[in-house]
Amino acid sequence: MGKTLIVANLKSYEDENEAKNWLESFKKITELNLNLEQKEVIVCPSFTQLFSFFSYFLANNIKVKLGAQDISPFDEGAYTGEVNAKQIKDFAQYVLIGHSERRTNFNEPEDMLTKKVDMTLKYGLNPIFLIQNQEDLVPQNVQVVAYEPTFAIGTCTADTPENADAVAVVIKSKSNVQVLYGGSVTSDNVKSFTAKTNIDGVIVGGASLEAEEFIKIIQNA
Ligand code: PGA
Repeated sequence: MGKTLIVANLKSYEDENEAKNWLESFKKITELNLNLEQKEVIVCPSFTQLFSFFSYFLANNIKVKLGAQDISPFDEGAYTGEVNAKQIKDFAQYVLIGHSERRTNFNEPEDMLTKKVDMTLKYGLNPIFLIQNQEDLVPQNVQVVAYEPTFAIGTCTADTPENADAVAVVIKSKSNVQVLYGGSVTSDNVKSFTAKTNIDGVIVGGASLEAEEFIKIIQNA
């Protein structure tokens, strides 16, 4: 059995000062003697904060990994405004691809998502591919899929662990992947998801913005 993955998606909220406060609160995790052997914690801040999170985690011996919330579908080159996989590979290990907020607000189509996966893999990063229902396509060579039903994102109405587990079974019947659940995960409900046989971890949005709550989620997962 692999480690339980616990991902913080900090979305597009924190400015420099707020990010600094988040890190200082999150540092308390080092005092808790948490057994992280069975848990892989991944924090996904904004692009502008990836490097400062990396430096802070290194300097304070905080053993969590970093992910980007998005990536360019292109390799390095003349693509003004894009951040590509080569540029983050030295400090991030994961990339979120296919979040419903990107599919909806930025009209990201399937072929673009596949290009993002390819670029992520080209530079040795791990894509976490988000789908909104069990019919959504998953590009080849993805090893971690996250099921995030749109009705549950930011609504305080999570899917039922039973349904999420049933969806995970369908996803796993099509390819050999780990499956995460995302959508209104909190410290109160996280265990009901991670206790399910087919759910290998969670993605946490809103509740991860409070570092103390995110620590509780890690403890309870
Ligand atoms: P939420 O967001 O935890 O606020 O529902 C999850 C996500 O969008 O990844």
